Amino acid sequence: MKRNPDEIKVLVTRNIPVLGVEMLRKEGFSVTAWALERPMTDQELIAESKKHNVILCVSADNISTDFINACPHLEMISQFAVGYDNIDVPLATKLGIPIGYAPGAMNEATADIAFGLMISVARKFFYMHKGILKGQWTYFKPNANLGIELNNKTIGIFGLGRIGLAMARRCKGAYNMNIIYCNRNVHAEAEKLFNAKRVNFGDLLRQSDVISVHSVLSKETKEIFNKDAFNKMKSSSIFINTARGGVHNEQDLIDALNSGRIWGAGLDVTNPEPMRLDNPLLEMENVCILPHIGSATIEARNEMSRMAAENIISYYKNNTVPNIVNPEVFKK
Ligand code: 8YV
Repeated sequence: MKRNPDEIKVLVTRNIPVLGVEMLRKEGFSVTAWALERPMTDQELIAESKKHNVILCVSADNISTDFINACPHLEMISQFAVGYDNIDVPLATKLGIPIGYAPGAMNEATADIAFGLMISVARKFFYMHKGILKGQWTYFKPNANLGIELNNKTIGIFGLGRIGLAMARRCKGAYNMNIIYCNRNVHAEAEKLFNAKRVNFGDLLRQSDVISVHSVLSKETKEIFNKDAFNKMKSSSIFINTARGGVHNEQDLIDALNSGRIWGAGLDVTNPEPMRLDNPLLEMENVCILPHIGSATIEARNEMSRMAAENIISYYKNNTVPNIVNPEVFKK
């Protein structure tokens, strides 16, 4: 949509790194950033969006059917994230609203968190740390605090894309792990670089010593890691999820850990977020939880900010969105 940026009002729904906001302002866009520390309520988001042409939003914003029906005037949605399961994409597409997103910005940052969680669970980092704070570091006990080693083990990557590839690189380089993956399509690069082997979901569950989730959350993947799945995993295995909490069933995960069906779990994503403070996962020995910080590096967040702004600028200047979720809108 070629338009003069001076006519375009952009709502930024959270306090994001200034880079993107400055890029937009330099081009002449009028940018309003939500100034409060707390996020907008759904009603506030609708009311504010009504006053703007474009929203630059985060994945915790509820860009639902109701939201889009209330704001069909929006000319663009620019998501400050790679995931977009918070957006009613079919409805936005039907209304011709392009959705920009930020793939690739957080590959290394998120793979670091998945890899870090894997080691932390294998060696019980968080539980041990809490033990020190509780005064439990007393004397040397040769049979206590034992973890497991990762060298030459099998990592099963569920959803091998950009972030999964960065995880595979770490696992191969650090521990010479055998890499298997479950994807709709073959990942030729991972096969060539890391000798990764594509397997079906059942084999991924049965063969992996560690499973790391890097998939999108969709109808197909929602709670795919449930009781049935955990029952097929090795009792010595570790489950890692840095993608979306909705991909696993949390109660089934708790049961699998309590009953020793699996050995441990590391989560950067939960369902809901934030999780309740009385969630039993927080007290378990072989569990490490982080508060959805996969992309929380200076580098990744700056790049997300830059990409979110670039998607908007390019739309109005060149009628193209460099990173778009629904390219169909341009074919109409
Ligand atoms: C963000 C994310 O923390 O990009 C994603 O999909 O989950 C994370 O990078 C957050 O959701 C940003 O909107």
